[in-house]
Amino acid sequence: MKSSVLLIEDNASTRFGFVRYFSKDGYEIHEAANLAEATAILAARRCDIIVLDINLPDGNGIDFIHTARTQDPCIPIIIITGEGDIPLAVEAMQRGADNFMTKPVDNAALAVFMSKTLEIGILKKQQSARKQLEKRNVFFVGSNKIIQEVHTLALAAAASDIPVLITGETGTGKGMLARWIHQHSSRASNECVELNCSGLRGEMLSREIFGNVKGAFTSADQDRKGLLDAADRGTLFLDEIGDMSIDVQAQFLKVLEDKSYRRLGDIKLLRSNFRLICATHHDIDSLVELGQFRRDLVFRINMMKLHLPPLRECMDDLPALTSYLLRSLGSTSDILSDECMKMLRVYPWPGNIRELRSVLERALLLTPPGAIIRQSAFSNLAPHRPPKPAQNQRTVQEVEGEHIRAVLDQAGGNIEKAAKSLNISRATLYRRLKKNNTIY
Ligand SMILES: Nc1ncnc2c1ncn2[C@@H]1O[C@H](COP(=O)(O)OP(=O)(O)OP(=O)(O)O)[C@@H](O)[C@H]1O
Ligand SMILES: [Mg+2]
Repeated sequence: MKSSVLLIEDNASTRFGFVRYFSKDGYEIHEAANLAEATAILAARRCDIIVLDINLPDGNGIDFIHTARTQDPCIPIIIITGEGDIPLAVEAMQRGADNFMTKPVDNAALAVFMSKTLEIGILKKQQSARKQLEKRNVFFVGSNKIIQEVHTLALAAAASDIPVLITGETGTGKGMLARWIHQHSSRASNECVELNCSGLRGEMLSREIFGNVKGAFTSADQDRKGLLDAADRGTLFLDEIGDMSIDVQAQFLKVLEDKSYRRLGDIKLLRSNFRLICATHHDIDSLVELGQFRRDLVFRINMMKLHLPPLRECMDDLPALTSYLLRSLGSTSDILSDECMKMLRVYPWPGNIRELRSVLERALLLTPPGAIIRQSAFSNLAPHRPPKPAQNQRTVQEVEGEHIRAVLDQAGGNIEKAAKSLNISRATLYRRLKKNNTIY
């Protein structure tokens, strides 16, 4: 799809030169000789960028910036001013123009300007779409039966105050669902405090949850509130609860039973009225069997269980989800051809919706603004790894590279998670990826 320019310029020969140059450059151009024509075009046509002269027969171009912004808050605007009109150009920038050029305009320089300004416009659009979606926290996209059942349960969870346990593979949206429940609950105007239990061990985790008083341990140089305190009247979201160490599990169980807690090093009992939501990608019952998770804590946190299915089990929702994600990335869904959709359909999506989102994000990066996504943008999905040499002929580097790729796949492409599973730092992981020529 071509990018379309709204050119507002009263001089017919300047317009002619512009159209000749920029049509060759692949732009679709809508011409307006005055502000009235420009307003009509903007209301009727899709415009990706505006090139605006200031002195026009029916008014001042600067006033048009406001009209354009009301129609599309992110549309890039380049102002063209006369040579001595710098103060006007400054005013235009203050009123929301993105860039300006002085006459006589060199079309080659304007072309560079336009492509840069278009890129900024796309970024602005993506940012604003993201903000809008974050505000709305849309979660239930599509009509898959299993997802609709989760939706019904999630509504019930939001209407109640009972502890909820969200399970599902990595990238299925457990964190997003926890926030959705909070935002749809009566506690929405208070905090949803999140803590990832897999990042902190033992005392560090207790400190985060309970807080401490000055002198409770060597580095405790001041009183510090815990997350239980911050979650008062709101929601406490404990992510990856399956990774909570067994000693902290005992302390936390006590909080749930007694409805009170103490900061580390303190004797005073404190109360916090929080609603608990937990999530884990582990099978919590297996952890109990392995002795890694307390059965009595499972009873407390699992009053209602919401299981998010893997994406491969909800492929009927793929078009709706893809279209939603493309929009949230500031694009439109019509840039994905049927052939590309076929490629997405046959891929098993081990990293689930997170992986789908990053694959689309990458594809958009490889696609010029307004163009259709090419199939090659999804070439990394095809299982085109070189055939494995016989087991006993493989080098250490090959085995390492393959293991790293498998762990990365399992972590849905999340470098931090993969590094943690491999028990190496992110920097080391990047280094090894480079050494193994692995692009991820
Ligand atoms: N229902 C959904 N709608 C739109 N985007 C989604 C949805 N579910 C997940 N995503 C996308 O996937 C990303 C990962 O979601 P989230 O962090 O909630 O997954 P998770 O199940 O908590 O993963 P992990 O187990 O790795 O923590 C989100 O940032 C979002 O971009
Ligand atoms: Mg998560």
